[in-house]
Amino acid sequence: MPISGKRRALPEPHTTIDSGRGKLRFFLGDSVELLEALPAGTVSVIVTSPPYNLGIQYRTYQDSLPREHYLEWTDAWLAAARHALAEDGSLFLNVGAKPTDPWTAMDVAQTARRHLHLQNTIHWVKSIAIDRDAAGAAVGLDRDIAVGHYKPINSDRFLNDCHEFIFHFTAGGRTKLDRRAIGVRYQDESNIARWRSGGDNRRCRGNAWFIPYETIQSRDKDRPHPATFPPRVPEYCFKLHGLTRITLAMDPFLGLGSTAVAAAELGLDFIGVEMDEHYLNEAVERTRRALVAPRLRR
Ligand SMILES: C[S@@+](CC[C@H](N)C(=O)[O-])C[C@H]1O[C@@H](n2cnc3c(N)ncnc32)[C@H](O)[C@@H]1O
Repeated sequence: MPISGKRRALPEPHTTIDSGRGKLRFFLGDSVELLEALPAGTVSVIVTSPPYNLGIQYRTYQDSLPREHYLEWTDAWLAAARHALAEDGSLFLNVGAKPTDPWTAMDVAQTARRHLHLQNTIHWVKSIAIDRDAAGAAVGLDRDIAVGHYKPINSDRFLNDCHEFIFHFTAGGRTKLDRRAIGVRYQDESNIARWRSGGDNRRCRGNAWFIPYETIQSRDKDRPHPATFPPRVPEYCFKLHGLTRITLAMDPFLGLGSTAVAAAELGLDFIGVEMDEHYLNEAVERTRRALVAPRLRR
């Protein structure tokens, strides 16, 4: 259905959770249809990670389309996302790659260029090594450290891939952000006076976010999905956009519901869409559990 044509009515959600602070609606179905059915400009923030077309084994979705088809489909869902996104909204788009197919993330970003402005490029760092002497004496490391989730590969030509992109797209490139909502403390407090934004001893975190996966005991039981991001990824995105400016948050490729978990914990109204019922049920369960035992430190 063309976006400019008669809009299809929003279907009934599969599940609705009312947290008391926000309403979370979970839809079983196709993300493009759902995005197109939303009234134009009504979503404040989309945080999402679509399939990357890297041959990942999902339960339902076939992740190895011919490149041309994949990019046509990418164009279709991005056009639908642009329709649903508010003029001052944010689309945080996480895309991974694999060493033998390094262009995917850039191809997806170039496709988005037809619809949206690239306002920021964030590097989600999953693992990092820091040498003690490079960190400097003031940091107080007693040795070189390597922290985070490290997935070794056997290769004599590729480096281990320790990051993924999070592209921050907006309608006009001028969306205001609450940078200090995810800010970090100044290491050297004498800098505070020097910087105009230094009033509360916090500076902008910058565009490299170290967010490791939680350590789990059993992949099948604890994280039964091949391509998730930790809830801290959407948590930072929501806070960076500015919580008070969010009337509706969304993830059109919900997977196990990490974005729903973050939205629930932050008291946001939220819509999630997933084509696979097993993943969707798991997302609902995770969200319910998060409301009983919140993960966030307040
Ligand atoms: C990369 S995963 C998202 C994982 C999620 N960020 C998480 O942390 O759990 C992409 C998801 O999109 C779903 N999917 C693929 N095509 C879809 C479509 N057209 N509509 C709705 N969901 C779709 C897949 O089933 C898969 O679970």
